[in-house]
Amino acid sequence: MNHSLRICVGPTCGVNFSNDLLAETEDRPRDDVMVERCGCLGHCEEGPNLMLNGAVHIDMTPNRLRDLVNALPALPLGMEVSR
Ligand code: FES
Repeated sequence: MNHSLRICVGPTCGVNFSNDLLAETEDRPRDDVMVERCGCLGHCEEGPNLMLNGAVHIDMTPNRLRDLVNALPALPLGMEVSR
C-alpha cells in the first residue's frame, strides 16, 4: 500500500477548482501515492479540500498540494503507511 491522497470532487470543491488539484497529481505522478477522487469531506466552505493519509487539508491550491506531496517520505513499493 502507498500514501493515500483523496481529492474531494464534491459540488463545492468542484466549483472551487478541485480539478486543478487532480491535474497537479497527473502532471507529477508518484508511484507511492495512490490518488483517488472522493465525495464531500465535510469542510465545503473551505474547499477545495483533500485527505492525505487520513488527515484533511483545506483551502488547497496546486502549489500547496505539490509541497505536501514533496514532503512525503518515499515509500518502497508494497510498504504500508500506518494511520
Ligand atoms: S464538497 Fe468538498 S468538502 Fe464538501
